[in-house]
Amino acid sequence: MPVGIDDISFYTANFSLDLQELAANNGSNAAKYTVGIGQERMSVPGADEDVVTMAANACVPLLEGMKTRGEDSNAIKTILFATETGIDQSKAAGVYLHSLLKFSPRCRVVELKQACYSATAALQLATAWVARKPKEKVLVIASDIARYERQTPGEATQGCGAVAMIVSANPRLIVLDSETGIHTEDVMDFWRPNYRSTALVDGKYSTKVYLRCVRSAWQDFQQQSDLKFADFDYFCYHLPFSRMAQKAHNHLANGNAHELSTKTLEDQISSSLIYNRITGNSYTAAMYIGFISLLDNTAANLAGKRIGFFSYGSGSVGEFFTGTLVEDYQDMLHQQGHQSMLESRQPLNYADYQKMYAFEVPTDGGDHEFEHQTNGKFRLTGISQHKRLYQVR
Ligand code: CAA
Repeated sequence: MPVGIDDISFYTANFSLDLQELAANNGSNAAKYTVGIGQERMSVPGADEDVVTMAANACVPLLEGMKTRGEDSNAIKTILFATETGIDQSKAAGVYLHSLLKFSPRCRVVELKQACYSATAALQLATAWVARKPKEKVLVIASDIARYERQTPGEATQGCGAVAMIVSANPRLIVLDSETGIHTEDVMDFWRPNYRSTALVDGKYSTKVYLRCVRSAWQDFQQQSDLKFADFDYFCYHLPFSRMAQKAHNHLANGNAHELSTKTLEDQISSSLIYNRITGNSYTAAMYIGFISLLDNTAANLAGKRIGFFSYGSGSVGEFFTGTLVEDYQDMLHQQGHQSMLESRQPLNYADYQKMYAFEVPTDGGDHEFEHQTNGKFRLTGISQHKRLYQVR
């Protein structure tokens, strides 16, 4: 029985900073950002946006689609919420989402963490679950805010976003293969101790570990599957910034695809980079926003095409897996909604970006109402006695 992703959508925060504006104010050459790391803008969350509100907004088109088609959302009996921007050491962010979206109490919810990789772990667990209980569906969420210290090389690679996907039997979007390649290695390339709100990163080292991981995960995949590099039509990589995917693809192709031209290699990934170039890094969500970008921005019919995915989470775990797009997958796309959501973001000037960056959720246990900033359907309205308060508009 085929199992895979039935529907997928993403959401990002309502504000964005042009990296030219960042360069103009921090003394960098703008080309370092636009060419060197391949990024144009980064999404910036308002005070009333967090991983829960972004994730809930990402779910709306999926739930509306189910309603329009007369499908029962109670078939979703599991919500797996992947994030490395945890809002609580104990309570899963997905429980807030479960409440905001009025899911049935007969639905289990859990949070997963392993840097940017955990959404892929969630997806793999979901496929196994559905294979065992084919009538059930699993909602997989990836939601993160990438945040580095100001005036560091990482600052230009910030961003945020959330992806929601429904995993089911007989999926209408992509069937996933069960063979995957894995690489796990204990390294300190990027991490965030519990007492910090920004990540620590050994930037250049992290890019080297990423490349080592993609090669090793691919080698493991080759042991598990008969598929060769030439059997793949497109690739989606974890996207901390778009140049990283170009480097990874060339690295993987090296030794695998001497016969493929540079243009073919570029065509295999270019559409997957379009959205991330303007949202920035979104950790767990980044590769899946890349997948949506490929689907939304490729005019040709991709039905029957094989996609290779490489998911990377610092620290580090990587996985290479694959799937094939289904006939009429286009019926499940939310291209217009994605594009109008991206266009409606409010551009920030540098002063406003600094102000928004400086905002921290108060930790004094008092009652605090947050400024209404987002246009999204869901808001974090404030915090009262250490309890986060959410609202549906
Ligand atoms: N015009 C064109 N290109 C330029 C340029 C200019 N004027 N100036 C510099 N460049 C190029 C450089 O030559 C370099 O290109 P190559 O990588 O091809 O050599 C590129 O721009 C970057 O410049 P630097 O080497 O000077 O790098 P930096 O000190 O600015 O740091 C970074 C870059 C390490 C990616 C940094 O942004 C960072 O630490 N980011 C966060 C960590 C990260 O994203 N790591 C990725 C792997 S880990 C991961 O994937 C997990 C995750 O999500 C975090």
